[in-house]
Amino acid sequence: MALRHFLSLTDLNTGELQGIIENAVAGKQRLLNGDIQQTLKGKVLAMIFEKSSTRTRVSFETGMAQLGGHAIFLSPDDTQLGRGEPVEDTARVLSRMVDCIMIRTFEHIKLQRFADHSDVPVINGLSDTFHPCQLLADMQTYYEHRGPIKGKTVAWLGDGNNMCHSYITAASLFDFHLNIASPEQYRPDAKILRSAGNHVELHTDPETAIKNADLVVTDVWVSMGQEAETESRRSIFRPYQVNTGLMSLAKQEALFMHCLPAHRGDEVTADVIDGPQSVVWDEAGNRLHSQKALLEFLLQ
Ligand code: CP
Ligand code: NVA
Repeated sequence: MALRHFLSLTDLNTGELQGIIENAVAGKQRLLNGDIQQTLKGKVLAMIFEKSSTRTRVSFETGMAQLGGHAIFLSPDDTQLGRGEPVEDTARVLSRMVDCIMIRTFEHIKLQRFADHSDVPVINGLSDTFHPCQLLADMQTYYEHRGPIKGKTVAWLGDGNNMCHSYITAASLFDFHLNIASPEQYRPDAKILRSAGNHVELHTDPETAIKNADLVVTDVWVSMGQEAETESRRSIFRPYQVNTGLMSLAKQEALFMHCLPAHRGDEVTADVIDGPQSVVWDEAGNRLHSQKALLEFLLQ
């Protein structure tokens, strides 16, 4: 197979994404049955983290171990990247040693520059613009609880951020309707929005956006790198908090998702995230299974 990267969901087509999710569901079942298949024996994944992580790091590292390979954690603090070695040079060097590279960084363009100079697949472990690995887990989780998401209504409440952008790309690829409610000054990127055509509708009012939703999703109000804006964001986003009152406007069988980490009392109340409609723990756990399927897709 020609070299493939996964910088955004749009790097794969609908059939490929669905195949990864089916393999993730099957791989999860095999693991539960104690059937370990070391399909990536001897393969090595380098993981560059320029931002903090719990789920992304542990799921990739565990996934590589279970598949018979190995993962190396790299941070700018203890690599030459932090001392100014260009990403292009780092990409050329690493891709002569490892089989795949995962990067969590700030500017999306940095990932693109890295991928342009890499001879091995590059995976976006989160940038300021997209978080496609999280969407694989979210789509797997919806499928496991409710079946195909095609034709369903998803409500995104809060910041038009990296997760919101990935939901916009998912709306076209998985063919669902996405209602986004965010304050006007925190709307998603207009170009990304245009690419989704009539799959996506923008609202300012959370009550309208959540009406009859099959899935309700939110994320932090202050993403990594925005810490200086914490106080103003906490007051501007207050009306978008997902609480039981708002959830009661969604369908009765609606699910609640959040990529985590969550702030109870800010973007979501404890009774919602810890309540019966929340599937956030399955969602977090599925990072492992869906990324194992992604690694197999890119490396085999
Ligand atoms: N959801 C997510 O990517 O979590 P981490 O920041 O802990 O990796
Ligand atoms: N939007 C959040 C997601 C964290 C997984 C951030 O970028 O910090």
